[in-house]
Formats: sequence, C-alpha cells, structure tokens
Amino acid sequence: MDIKQGDIIFKQGEKGNEAYLIEKGQIEIFHNHKDEQEVPLAVLGEGELFGEMALIDSNIRSASARALSDGRLLIIEKSQLVDKINTSDAVVQLMMRILLHRLRDKNQIAAGGAFSPRDVEKPNTIAVERLRLENQIFQALQKEEFRIYHQPIFDLNTLKIYGSEALIRWESPTNGLVSPGQFVDVLENSSTIIPVGYWIFEECFRHYNRIKEQCPDLPFSVSINVSGRQFAHHSFVETLKSLLLKHKVKAENFKLEITERILVEGGAVIDILNQCHDLGFKISLDDFGTGFSSLQYLAQMPIDYLKIDRSFVKNVAGDDKTRAVVSSIIFLAKELDLKIISEGIESETEATAMRVLGSDFGQGYLYSKPLDFDSFLKTLLNN
Ligand code: C2E
Ligand code: CMP
Ligand code: CA
Ligand code: CA
Repeated sequence: MDIKQGDIIFKQGEKGNEAYLIEKGQIEIFHNHKDEQEVPLAVLGEGELFGEMALIDSNIRSASARALSDGRLLIIEKSQLVDKINTSDAVVQLMMRILLHRLRDKNQIAAGGAFSPRDVEKPNTIAVERLRLENQIFQALQKEEFRIYHQPIFDLNTLKIYGSEALIRWESPTNGLVSPGQFVDVLENSSTIIPVGYWIFEECFRHYNRIKEQCPDLPFSVSINVSGRQFAHHSFVETLKSLLLKHKVKAENFKLEITERILVEGGAVIDILNQCHDLGFKISLDDFGTGFSSLQYLAQMPIDYLKIDRSFVKNVAGDDKTRAVVSSIIFLAKELDLKIISEGIESETEATAMRVLGSDFGQGYLYSKPLDFDSFLKTLLNN
C-alpha cells in the first residue's frame, strides 16, 4: 500500500486488524495526551514492523501512526500473525503479553496518563503452571529427587533377564512417586533436560557397575531413553565420552532408546546418532509403529534394535490384521539384522504370540513392573 506524507495510518484507541511492514519511508508513532497534545514515541524506518501489538493481545491500538514521508507499507493480516503466535510455546506467549503490557504502561506514562488496569488480560494459567512445573523440576535435580527405576527385559526363549530399561521417577516430598507421564513432556521441552539427561546417563553407569560387581559374568545392558533435545546439545558426544571414562564403562553395554520423531528432524541428529553408534552405543528404535514408521529409516539409520509398541502387542493374539502387520515388520527387521524387543507384555498369550512371531526379547507387567534399583538387583540375583 502506498502512503503519502502526513497520512494517518491508524489512530490510538482504534481496533486493529492488521500490522504493517515498512518497505519504504518513515513512520512516526505518537501518543495523544489527555489535552490532545501529541507525544512522540518513536520514528520507524525501512524493515520495521508496527501495529502488531493490537493483533497480539487483541487490545486497542496503543498509539497512533503517521507517515513522515511518502512511502510503501506491506500489510500483514491478523490471521498470519495470530496463527504463528497461537502455535508458539505457552510460556513464550505469556512473556510476550507481559512485555506488551509493560510497553503500554510506559507509553501511557510518557503521555502523562496513569497505568492501565491489569485485568484486561486474563492470566494464562497453562503457561504459569508450566513455568511452575519447570521450576520444580529444576529444583528436583538439585535436591536429588530423581530416581532411576529399571524394568527387566527378558530373553523370550530362555526367560532369563538380558537387560533393563532405565525409567525416570520423581520422588517428590509433597506428591510422592511421580511418573514421567506427568513431567517428561515439560522436562523434554525445557533446558533442564540437558543436566537431567546427563544425570540419567551417570546414574545408569553407576547402576551398571553395581550390577557387574554382583553378577560379573552376566551379559547385561541398560537401555536409556534419549530425547531429541539431548542429541541436539552441542557437546553431547563429547560429554558422553568423558562420562564413559569417568565411570569406566563401555558404551557397548548401553542402548540409546530413540523415537522416530527425532529421526524426522534429519541431518544433524542423524550425524550425532552415527557418532554415538561409532562410540559403541547400541541404538534401539522405541515405540515402533506408533509414529511415522517410515521403513526407510530402518535401512538408513544405525539401528540395532526395534521395540514393538504395546499397541501392537496388545492386539496381536486376537486380531489377524495386527498379526499380519507385526509378522511383516519382524520379517523385514530380521532381513536388516535387527533384534526385536516387544514392549508392554501383560499376559502369557501376548508373550507366546510375540515369541512365535519371532520377537527375541520382551518386557512388561507380566514379568515385572519397573523396580527401584535395590529391588531390581534382588530380582536379578534370583533370576
Ligand atoms: P517408554 O519409553 O515407551 O517406556 C515404556 C513405558 O511403558 C514405561 O512407562 C513403562 O513403565 C510402561 N510399561 C512397562 N510395561 C508395561 C506394561 O506391561 N503395560 C503397560 N500398559 N505399560 C507398561 P513410564 O515409566 O511411565 O514412562 C513413560 C514414558 O516416559 C516413556 O515411555 C518414555 O517416553 C518417557 N521416559 C521415561 N523415562 C525417561 C528418561 O529417563 N528419559 C526420557 N527422555 N524419557 C523417559
Ligand atoms: P499497536 O498497539 O497495534 O498500534 C500502535 C503501534 O505503535 C503498536 O502496535 C506498535 O507497533 C507501535 N508502538 C507502540 N509503542 C511504541 C513505542 N514506545 N516505540 C515504538 N513503537 C511503538
Ligand atoms: Ca523407551
Ligand atoms: Ca516405548
């Protein structure tokens, strides 16, 4: 849209349906004092955006805008901006609203007015709750409230324990034993996953050494869940290398459990996955069948184990179609030299069905729930 010097683009107090990007020319932003006197707030030039505030918080225009010279504006529709904001992180949305509110207050004061009332904006309870939980999670790490539980993984043919999956728990003094379902999403989406993630590795390395002290001849490996954000940490591989040295353990005795989700992120993550594999870590593809399940990944990625999700295991005995799907997955996996672990086995029927279809290993409530380390060690010694 072309503008002429002196054009008023919009006035303070109006409703706003669009924002503007200045392609050419200069725009003056000004506030109207109670006595109609103009208070200049800013002069904006090429490449700058204005009129966005009213779109972001659905409030009225916080100031007026006038062209200081002839020029050109690019109109940005409300829907373009609002979609992006609504799909952004809840905490980022909250911070944006807070900053806007502060700017409005500042303008108001500059124009000789009073603070605007706070109740215009509803507090974003989801975001506030998230911040609170993130904070508690960070403190839980410092207060050493996280625990690593182990769920035994069995060889389905010999019924001997062959390894375990490490599963995090939060022993909260106020809420008791908290399952990851209640905090892992928030954890994985906050930067706290980085220190917590390394703590999980160290705790698993310590546990592994204690298991080896008790059962030196037992072939055993610990599976560790790793999220995309951990892989993306700039010194992930270097840190793992130094932790392996610190605890004097070999990477070969650990499996990294990843989900298909992180493979979709592509390039960099796959490169890091390869580096981990070169270090000796085994790679296990978790929740197989629930995500994108592009079979292409199986051939291209350094994957050693496929974990078939409980949603298949549950139906395999009673549903012919599920059985056909699982049977072909296992056939293909074997062609690619992958080993199969069945997740969430709850009954003998499920165990038998999966074993007959060719699953090498299994874990689930039928055999054992995830156990605290001492109970796990006892189970291992009795196996
Ligand atoms: P997952 O990796 O798929 O872990 C398997 C989940 O299934 C565990 O839940 C386990 O307790 C549960 N489970 C085991 N056997 C059975 C069964 O027979 N039936 C049923 N219905 N469930 C069974 P949990 O421990 O609550 O963990 C939930 C999710 O949280 C995990 O899913 C994983 O995605 C995440 N998680 C857990 N520990 C960690 C961790 O240390 N790091 C990361 N990044 N994520 C973790
Ligand atoms: P909006 O409130 O939609 O309409 C007025 C616009 O002026 C506002 O969005 C911002 O883009 C801009 N604006 C408001 N206050 C300032 C300020 N203090 N400095 C620079 N730009 C401002
Ligand atoms: Ca897992
Ligand atoms: Ca799983």
